[in-house]
Amino acid sequence: MFPRDHVRGKLPLLNLQEEVPFTLQQGSVADLLGSMSSYNHDLRGHSERVCTLCIPMAMRLGLAGKRLLYIQLAALLHDVGKLDVPPHILDKPGMLSFQETLVVQDHSLRGEQILRSLSLPDPICQTVRTHHERFDGRGYPDGLAGEEIPLAARIVQIADAYDAMTEDRPYRAAMTPEAARFWISGLSGVYFDPVVVDCFLSE
Ligand SMILES: [Fe+2]
Repeated sequence: MFPRDHVRGKLPLLNLQEEVPFTLQQGSVADLLGSMSSYNHDLRGHSERVCTLCIPMAMRLGLAGKRLLYIQLAALLHDVGKLDVPPHILDKPGMLSFQETLVVQDHSLRGEQILRSLSLPDPICQTVRTHHERFDGRGYPDGLAGEEIPLAARIVQIADAYDAMTEDRPYRAAMTPEAARFWISGLSGVYFDPVVVDCFLSE
């Protein structure tokens, strides 16, 4: 269980200045996070909460060292491609049109492109590219299924969904943590990796 007060705004492990070993990118990562803060009121907050939710799952699933650092950075930057989604689409209160949906969906590929242009390590770029794949193979952009999807992305997916469900949206109220956990449980094996779901729910 992840009480919201525990999640909100806390990054217990990652210190960009001290822990990111690729010094060339430190400024770039900080710049991207700054851009996300100013572009959309919750893009940065959502990313930080997702990062915080990922850490205990990643550790319990055996990620350590560089792999743990990479998943934190990927979680922080998973939606960086939304910097290229126009605000009138990103903040639209109602249903998106088909074309608008395609523009939003392109953020995973655009995010990967942004991070590759900054020479971030491949696992981070791959996680950002694949964070909207589905365990049953019906996600995007590549229709990967099961363990074809990087483990880091399968972890980010659940944290991403949980945070989205438990936050207010212009078109719906936030779910309770219990309701979100119920939905995630119900989507185990469909959207989400059952092993990662069990890890999340047993916290
Ligand atoms: Fe996303």
